[in-house]
Amino acid sequence: CGIVGYIGKRDAAPLLLEGLQRLEYRGYDSAGVTVAARSGLKTVKAAGRVRDLEARLPKRFAGTAGIAHTRWATHGAPTDDNAHPHLDSSGRIAVVHNGIIDNAAELRAKLTAEGVAFASETDSEVLVHLIARADDLETLEARVQRALSFVQGTYGIAVLHAGFPDRVVAARNGSPVVLGVGDHEMFVASDVAALVRFTRQVVTLDDGEMATLRANDYRTYTTEALATEKSPTTVEWDAENYDIGGHDHFMHKEIFEQPEAVDRVLRGRIDDRFATVHLGGLNLDAREARAVRRVKILGCGSAYYSGQIGAQLIEELARIPADAEPASEFRYRNPVVDPDTLYIAVSQSGETYDTLAAVQELKRKGAKVLGVVNVVGSAVAREADGGIYLHAGPEVCVVSTKCFTNTAVAFALLALHLGRVRDLSVADGRRILDGLRKLPAQIEEILQQEERVAELAAAYAPARSMMFVGRVRGYPVAREAAQKLKEVSYVHAEAYPASELKHGPLALIEPDVPTVAVVPDDELLEKNRATLEEIKARSGRILAIGHQEQRTADHTLTVPRNEPELDPILLGIPLQLLAYHAAVHLGRDVDKPRNLAKSVTVE
Ligand code: G6P
Repeated sequence: CGIVGYIGKRDAAPLLLEGLQRLEYRGYDSAGVTVAARSGLKTVKAAGRVRDLEARLPKRFAGTAGIAHTRWATHGAPTDDNAHPHLDSSGRIAVVHNGIIDNAAELRAKLTAEGVAFASETDSEVLVHLIARADDLETLEARVQRALSFVQGTYGIAVLHAGFPDRVVAARNGSPVVLGVGDHEMFVASDVAALVRFTRQVVTLDDGEMATLRANDYRTYTTEALATEKSPTTVEWDAENYDIGGHDHFMHKEIFEQPEAVDRVLRGRIDDRFATVHLGGLNLDAREARAVRRVKILGCGSAYYSGQIGAQLIEELARIPADAEPASEFRYRNPVVDPDTLYIAVSQSGETYDTLAAVQELKRKGAKVLGVVNVVGSAVAREADGGIYLHAGPEVCVVSTKCFTNTAVAFALLALHLGRVRDLSVADGRRILDGLRKLPAQIEEILQQEERVAELAAAYAPARSMMFVGRVRGYPVAREAAQKLKEVSYVHAEAYPASELKHGPLALIEPDVPTVAVVPDDELLEKNRATLEEIKARSGRILAIGHQEQRTADHTLTVPRNEPELDPILLGIPLQLLAYHAAVHLGRDVDKPRNLAKSVTVE
């Protein structure tokens, strides 16, 4: 979900809508906007996209303060009524909310018993009624504080009150809120993406913190009304980085940004003299690095799969047992937290709730946790003891591409570092550094095959279902590729370790269930070839991805050779293009796949 708020001298609605458009990738099943007009609050909501909301706005919708929201439904279907902002019964208070109110049912029952009529099925609506019922208190801030004191759960909120038209009040607990400081105008949003068009001066709220925005100033304080000191910082990326440029889709733009993005994650970190890398933010000294007995990597979705590549790299280069697990599973299974294990949380946004909760649980149990994160200053980055920033730039498309790749590269850096403080040789260190340096140009080379990949995508997209297989290094590549295809093209896909095919899924193979096989020229090439034969014998079509033409395959896409440990990074690239072009071929909404959101900030 996304929140935007404005107060200043300009008309709020156009600015709010522009902000919403830039947040749409966070949720897009309904949207709404409220402005404070002279006559009171005016609200318009619409199920559907921001453009549906725009179409509904009356010609005159003036007001220099307002709040707006784009929703990803959790409680209640995506209807007009369930869209935010939610209003109290008098229509004088409006609230937009991200997050989940855990005790909403209880609060709703209580308020209903007291005579409050609810207009929606959402958990969020209780907030506005609670604020309305605190009207014995003088200030809006005090009313919001009292309302929040009844609430359990997560929230990022913005509040507008017709009785206090000179301010917007915001609060944060577990759901991101940033303030944008403009020239005689102030903004609030759940993501800097909504603000960068207007200002690059931002203030990030912490959990338990609130803010009052007025046209000429802002102040921050805690939910207990203690003032906090916050000065603005400048965001690293400007508005252009959030624009689609000459591309048809953000996914395409972000795939093609990978050579640059990889260059940035490497920049300033390579140390040729000692055949190692410097990771300034790691906060793990050589003694600690040597003491690590296991590595456990946690993340959700693509972050989890990139973590699997990471685990493989750490085992190979540093010879430390490592594995990856979905953060959501980890946090619910009362995990054994071991002091000799290094925990690493992976998250593009740094806001994924399950990942953040896993980090918090680990910290509570005294573990050391590193973050591999793209968004600087995000919740995971702040909670972690140290880590590696991806420097991939803003990733707007719901599905991850450049951040997936940069995460794998970041893990190669970490693995090399851990290896070199342990027993990886200088020669191997050099070999990996040379390989890393080659990546940007090699990615560029792969991207030049786009036309061919698009043709293959058109040929394979009509399949009933697709199988993706890989072995050891190739397996996470297959998993991510299958996920990518499912997410953007809605073609059913399954990923299996190539070796497991004969233990079950081989039964599915038939002419309209083709297989994408990841077949690098490594020590497992012959084993993989045997798998291709098994598939061919069942008349399955095969698209191989590797370093040389595969005789058994119907088609092969080749990538340049790097070092075997780093090959997975390159093998994934043509498969991103394959998913993209399959989706385009099938006429899908590439950047906003149905039912998904970029950052899932709820459980
Ligand atoms: C959502 C997105 C996925 C993403 C996952 C983790 O489910 O749809 O594409 O991989 O969240 O996001 P994170 O920001 O934690 O990397």
